[in-house]
Amino acid sequence: MNIRSLAKKTLLMVEPFNVEPIEGYIRLSLNENPTLPPMVVKTAYEKAWEYVNRYTPLEILEEFKDEVSLYNNVSSHNIFVGPGADSILTYIADAFLWEGKVASMLRFTYPVYAEETIKRGAKVDFIPMDDTFSSKLEDIIDHAKEADVLFLCNPNNPTGNLVIFTLEEMEEVLKVSKGIVVVDEAYYEFSGFSVAPLVSKYDNLIVVRTFSKGFAMAGLRIGYAITSPEIVDILSRVSQPYVVSTTSMVVATEALRYSRYAYENARKLKDSLYKIKQTLMGMGLKVYPSVTNFLVVEAPAGTWKRLRRNRVLTRLIYADMENRKEVIRISAGDRISVGKFLKVFADIVLEDK
Ligand SMILES: Cc1ncc(COP(=O)(O)O)c(C=O)c1O
Repeated sequence: MNIRSLAKKTLLMVEPFNVEPIEGYIRLSLNENPTLPPMVVKTAYEKAWEYVNRYTPLEILEEFKDEVSLYNNVSSHNIFVGPGADSILTYIADAFLWEGKVASMLRFTYPVYAEETIKRGAKVDFIPMDDTFSSKLEDIIDHAKEADVLFLCNPNNPTGNLVIFTLEEMEEVLKVSKGIVVVDEAYYEFSGFSVAPLVSKYDNLIVVRTFSKGFAMAGLRIGYAITSPEIVDILSRVSQPYVVSTTSMVVATEALRYSRYAYENARKLKDSLYKIKQTLMGMGLKVYPSVTNFLVVEAPAGTWKRLRRNRVLTRLIYADMENRKEVIRISAGDRISVGKFLKVFADIVLEDK
């Protein structure tokens, strides 16, 4: 049977996902946090064990939402909980995108926005970026006027920079926007800037957050959205019940109580990235500014593949064959991984000279 012919056509327009190995590899491709959360957070696992035979009790959900509200200084009516930011993005697409709808996003941004748009038969509209990966606020505003959903990643993955710098700039976009405005703040604990205070004023704003980056819990698959009660209601209709595990909620609640570790960790990772940046610049390479746990470097063509062959995993943003260069994203790693990465990288760059 031709199974592909039975599948939804738009699904065949996107790539299936790959899971990356870790044993024997230097994995700097997924913007993970290389440090485990503190032991005090680990003790929450014991508490979660008491509930493994049950679907999540309301009290556990409410305790988590209360802690998220406190952390973000918003009401718990403004919180939607989901199994990771990616799932929340797919719920948003389910709720607000279908054939005939348009989703706008930056030319180089988190690929999930375009993929989820395409899968639902809606149109992808790109906002231009210049060769420093910056976008003009006027361009974002122009696209916001027409978009059913505007996806902004702030700071932006994979480029590492902020695209909206102040609440005033965000308001300029929100005032004219025709549809839903999603601001993905996955890297908030690194950048320290959030547009969440505007949720009380604009009911079409959705701020998406994750525990995968600053809180170092990518394996627990938990995230949340800060948005209007109307959008919380809509997203709660899309989501299946009990999709976030009780364990994830209990551990994340404890993590929020000790949130200082996320910031201390963010500072250490940024220091480590600064050192990598200095080393790469010392090799004569262009490194782009970043306020996240990853950085972007312009390397000789073929570097990404050669790194991979040497079991160093990074992310290729784009290859410019004409000028024999490529742009690569490198996540912060622990000291040993960074040392190995720099050694392999330096050999590749030297060989190319
Ligand atoms: C911008 C952005 N949003 C969302 C995610 C996914 O977050 P989660 O692990 O919570 O699904 C990532 C992960 O790399 C990301 O970079």
